[in-house]
Amino acid sequence: MALREIISDSDEILRKKSKPVTSFDKKLWELLDDMKETMVNADGLGLAAPQVGILRRIAIIDMEDGILELINPEIISQKGKQCETEGCLSFPGQYGYVDRPMIVKVRAQDRDGNFFEVEGKELYARAFAHEIDHLDGILFIDKVIEMVDVEGR
Ligand code: CO
Repeated sequence: MALREIISDSDEILRKKSKPVTSFDKKLWELLDDMKETMVNADGLGLAAPQVGILRRIAIIDMEDGILELINPEIISQKGKQCETEGCLSFPGQYGYVDRPMIVKVRAQDRDGNFFEVEGKELYARAFAHEIDHLDGILFIDKVIEMVDVEGR
């Protein structure tokens, strides 16, 4: 495993649309392992592949029971509304209020290509929506209602 460099706000790679993953091979597993190490090292809650310069539809999220790997994730349903502060590893020190659904259901593939569904509430609904936005080149600063000075997730 190795740490990867996290791309920050000035890079236009963050604005590009990522392509679906089609090979569930060693190269993907290595990327996932590197992304995990990079996210944990940066003390983040989530990380999307474009943030390490790879334009593929991959995101990881630090759930209560471990790190969830989402390959080719799609939001299949969403419910309710919340407006909380959010940050992003590509925008260190910046936080702001973003409107997100309260519950987000995602369909994705695991590292072997098997499909599964997962539901996220509150913090995890925000994380799912935020990370999946990254795969379409959408950043939280595009959706922010108000930036805040205090640190928060
Ligand atoms: Co982010």
